[in-house]
Amino acid sequence: MEIKITKTENSKLKGIDFDNIPFGKYTSDHMFVMDYADGQWKNFRIIPYQGFVLDPQSKALQYCQCIFEGMKVTMGKDGIPRFLRPDLNIERFNHSAERMCMPKIPHDIFFKALNTIVALDKNWIPKAEGSALYVRPTMFATESSLAVTPSDTYTFYIYTGPGQPYFSKPVKVITEQKLIRAVPGGTGETKTGGNYAGSLFASELAKKKGYDQIIWLESPEFIKIQEAGMMNLFFVIGDTVVTPRLTGAVLKGTTRNYCLDILEEKHFKVEVRDIYIAEIIEAFKKGDLKEAFGTGTAAVISHISEITHGDTLMVLPKVEDRIVSNMLYDEINGLRSGRIDDKRNWLIPVDVNI
Ligand SMILES: Cc1ncc(COP(=O)(O)O)c(C=O)c1O
Repeated sequence: MEIKITKTENSKLKGIDFDNIPFGKYTSDHMFVMDYADGQWKNFRIIPYQGFVLDPQSKALQYCQCIFEGMKVTMGKDGIPRFLRPDLNIERFNHSAERMCMPKIPHDIFFKALNTIVALDKNWIPKAEGSALYVRPTMFATESSLAVTPSDTYTFYIYTGPGQPYFSKPVKVITEQKLIRAVPGGTGETKTGGNYAGSLFASELAKKKGYDQIIWLESPEFIKIQEAGMMNLFFVIGDTVVTPRLTGAVLKGTTRNYCLDILEEKHFKVEVRDIYIAEIIEAFKKGDLKEAFGTGTAAVISHISEITHGDTLMVLPKVEDRIVSNMLYDEINGLRSGRIDDKRNWLIPVDVNI
């Protein structure tokens, strides 16, 4: 696989203050792009970050046949940039592709594309612990047709952007009892744009009421917990860590995976199962609800300060007193920065000699 590289003549890097890089605000200089036609991936190239020309009738625009991933590269204290378990993202991307009738991307092509774009824009990787270069692989359907059938042609691209930690303050969440994000059998398990567009209305309503995020409940009963906004959810009840099992409606979060593996290794009591809002309220009333937190690539861990369900307000213990979520946050960020030894071999160094 030969990647043709066209470098920018106008780097944006000079204008970046690395002490002020809100997550998602800045994009790096270049992007990797490749096209799919006649049953194969071709035209592997890196070009300056720029827009696409899209046919108004493209299936991405008309029927939202598009998917994406989100992952991070961090700079180690030794000056070597590293991915954290990129295979989980590649696997999930291909799972999304299959569900949305899009072509899969062979692992070697995917990883080479990731490595090359990150290596080329390595100067964009922030150094402070908790900061990272966010990497966003995306695929969209390009065929121009009104037929509701899978597109014949696609474009895949990867762009990156530096970011400081996201959602640094504890979040107030409210359960949603009317609107849904996903149902088993739907597309909730995939990272496809429509899931996110469909969740906006409920999120905006919650924000207007003063909440940061929603806890999605499973329809039609609205009693079983799915996720919190765009994060997987964990609770600590007594001495047990619980998280919803994957029903097909919940995204298989990579951070959720890291957390479950770390918890198992450290011999925490963990239950992956159906969780009902009634038992969270009961645990709260008994004083057993010690922690609630969301997990996701952007924030790693988002402590939940308050949960509202109907007329019930649950105010959770102080963040400083939370043993599980603080340990997980420290472990994952420490691993990424090189402060904690990578004894699990989760880190994959970026080969910067391209
Ligand atoms: C709906 C949803 N749930 C959970 C997550 C967390 O997944 P991950 O830990 O892979 O970022 C995300 C973020 O990507 C998401 O969009």
